[in-house]
Amino acid sequence: MQGMGWVYIDQLGRHVGEEVTLKGWLYHRRSSGKIHFLLLRDGTGICQCVASRAELGAETFEMADHLGQESALEITGTVREDRRAPGGYELSMRALRLISPAADYPITPKEHGVAFLLDHRHLWVRSSRQHAILRVRAEVEAAAREFLEQRGFVLFDSPILTPSACEGTTNLFEIDYFGERKAYLTQSGQLYAEAGALAFGKVYCFGPTFRAEKSKTRRHLTEFWMVEPEAAFFELAEDMDLAEDFVVHIVARVLERRRAQLQTLERDLTKLECVVRPFPRISYDEAIAKLQARGFPIKWGDDLGGDEETAVSEEFDRPVIIHRYPTQCKAFYMKQDPARPELALCMDMLAPEGYGEIIGGGQREDDYETLRAKIEHHQLPLDAFKWYLDLRRYGSVPHAGFGMGIERMVCWLCGVHHVREAIPFPRMMERLEP
Ligand code: 4AD
Ligand code: MG
Repeated sequence: MQGMGWVYIDQLGRHVGEEVTLKGWLYHRRSSGKIHFLLLRDGTGICQCVASRAELGAETFEMADHLGQESALEITGTVREDRRAPGGYELSMRALRLISPAADYPITPKEHGVAFLLDHRHLWVRSSRQHAILRVRAEVEAAAREFLEQRGFVLFDSPILTPSACEGTTNLFEIDYFGERKAYLTQSGQLYAEAGALAFGKVYCFGPTFRAEKSKTRRHLTEFWMVEPEAAFFELAEDMDLAEDFVVHIVARVLERRRAQLQTLERDLTKLECVVRPFPRISYDEAIAKLQARGFPIKWGDDLGGDEETAVSEEFDRPVIIHRYPTQCKAFYMKQDPARPELALCMDMLAPEGYGEIIGGGQREDDYETLRAKIEHHQLPLDAFKWYLDLRRYGSVPHAGFGMGIERMVCWLCGVHHVREAIPFPRMMERLEP
């Protein structure tokens, strides 16, 4: 109870038979003439409020019949249990106060095109589907933090303005830094997380990351959120175990706490309920062989594209880990496999049902000379990586980590087609507004 009888809709079950006040926005309205039904949403749920002339008085009853969608309202009434009502409770209205009127709300129950909806993203987030997706997103983020904290990972925030590239130079956002030099929006906090791991043992960073992606696919944003654990003394095997436990934990918590939202999204829950250990693990070599056997024109050394990822993951009912890609496909910091130097000790986790790569990571090169040569080979400026190389000069140890893209994860969990719906305000090549 928030004082003066104000409660949230998701708490109505505790107040059956009592008089309470709800504060929210008009989601929908219909009337039989004698009775008005106002659907009020307050962010925690939707409640049907029933108004009669006798209870409200003629003037307010009349006003209630002309309220525009999304008008802000305060409604007082008695809570009744009603199995047929959305949420299971309804309110018999005694009083109604108009906080602010709304007229001609642009998003109506009729079908709108996606461009129109994205233009109105600031309002679209109120719609039940979008609301459910973003509620799942918040749960995914909370679950990720919870898991890592439980495992002793310390939050170690990484900078967003950086002097160098982490994930290749082809999709770097460049910024003019005081007219004196160039800076870049970070593509990943990993390099800084590595410094953190050598200071704290186990750390994670969690923040927005940026890629100037010119590809207009359903999996790519130019700004997306990534959670990146990094641990000293972890090798590839421990890294894969961690990634697996991490995903299992997140899926389980979302299933436990966000079932209603997944139901709103009509998600097939059986597809998530089977996400338990162990996940299948195959090598890149095996993946190529599988793809070739299915007729894909792919040869050893090629990176896997979206279609290939979908084809590999289709074979499994849970995420699959592909490990040990050719070094040529991967970033400069990857550790070479001592048994086969043409391979990197890395892994990608692909979600089932064609949702693609949700996690990328692996073991880091910890040898000073090898790493220096790699930086040169990738034609990266040695100066900017001097501090990073220092980590290999002063107490270098094996270490590993990974990054999980929040939007990809949310898309898969919600069964949503495009990552643009998995973030409040998507940024893509062709979209910077609102
Ligand atoms: O595979 P990526 O590029 O790996 C890294 O950035 C590593 N430095 C992470 C690490 O080891 N600490 O990106 C990691 C994940 C991908 O698996 C994907 O889920 C997501 O980030 N991702 C994107 N999500 C949306 N839009 C994009 N353009 C994305 N690029 C990567
Ligand atoms: Mg990747």
